[in-house]
Amino acid sequence: MTDQQIQSGKSTEGMVDYNENSSAQLQLVLLLSPLVRNLVSSMDEPETEFKIVDYGCGPGINSIEMVKPAIETSLEKFGDQPIVVCHSDQVGNDWNTLFELVEGPAGYSHISNNIRTEAAIGSFYDQVASPASVSIGTCIFASHWLSQGIQLYSPETVWFADLEGDARLTVNRIAQNDWTHFLLQRAQELRSGGYLVVGTLGSVPDPSETNGIAASGRGIYHAIQAVAKAMVDDSLISHESLGSFLFSLWFMTDDEAKYALEQNDDLRNAFEICQISVEPAPIKADDIFKEHIDDPDTYAEKYVGYIRAFADSTLRTQLFSPNCNNSELLDQLMVEFYNRLSKLYVSETSKYACEIWHLTVVLRRK
Ligand SMILES: C[S@@+](CC[C@H](N)C(=O)[O-])C[C@H]1O[C@@H](n2cnc3c(N)ncnc32)[C@H](O)[C@@H]1O
Repeated sequence: MTDQQIQSGKSTEGMVDYNENSSAQLQLVLLLSPLVRNLVSSMDEPETEFKIVDYGCGPGINSIEMVKPAIETSLEKFGDQPIVVCHSDQVGNDWNTLFELVEGPAGYSHISNNIRTEAAIGSFYDQVASPASVSIGTCIFASHWLSQGIQLYSPETVWFADLEGDARLTVNRIAQNDWTHFLLQRAQELRSGGYLVVGTLGSVPDPSETNGIAASGRGIYHAIQAVAKAMVDDSLISHESLGSFLFSLWFMTDDEAKYALEQNDDLRNAFEICQISVEPAPIKADDIFKEHIDDPDTYAEKYVGYIRAFADSTLRTQLFSPNCNNSELLDQLMVEFYNRLSKLYVSETSKYACEIWHLTVVLRRK
């Protein structure tokens, strides 16, 4: 591998059939809800309004479920204090769906007349809210996306955990810079005494792995690699397009998550670390769809839906589009890819299971 690296575009844009295919994200949201309640109930009353920001909110119900415990606890504790809920994501997010849900029966707008909802459109690697305005910020299954799409020559793999040598160092450096930058922005936005809760995919030490760590989701990235490689072998896509494609992701270990907070003076001065941990998901940690293992068709359908929900736009724009000159061909390639992925899951089932370790970071703004 070389360390030649060109950054381009955004790492994600849009999610497909998100609500139906994001049960793993919802599991973490529900797990963190009691923590969010405790944090809010321990806070002092803000001067003007109680502002909640959900960074990388996505289009679905999970963002609503994430902010609800903060809303409810704020109402219990601070009574009539106005509440501002800000959903933050990129321009390509399905905002209409999100705001229909906010107003709908599962939403939160009916809980009180005192809630104002906002959208902050742009990258969470930039400023999203006014300085010292945020009482609690949450960020679920989102901060593992790097700030930009990465093109890096890595013919053997489509994801960070199997990179070796200079290529791994290059992406590691980008990931650490991004994490530092993300935290510096949040340090500006949180008010003193406010909290940041980040829940995302993590990695754990594993001496049997190439780089000595096992990263969440390794099965699904190996499945994507296997299918894309077979499409190269069948001359459906070029060797070069697969060789230069990499998901712009990094799932940190607890030490990697701590590093910036310990080494960067501004971050050390800004935050008290309340929790940094990586734990197996409390249920189905070894296979997010294990309940379907005896029914391979359903098992495959679940995995393809899950992968499509988070990866479709990345695969479309960064892997497949360089192989075709019109949108019809691109759609055909995508269909071919998902058909092959489905067949792989039907035949191999748990060989490509998705394991999950949750990285939880809880910080208090000093
Ligand atoms: C897997 S979804 C998670 C959505 C939601 N938090 C949940 O738990 O269901 C990841 C989200 O992060 C957003 N995202 C990724 N990079 C981002 C960035 N740099 N700035 C803002 N949002 C980003 C994506 O657009 C996407 O909506």
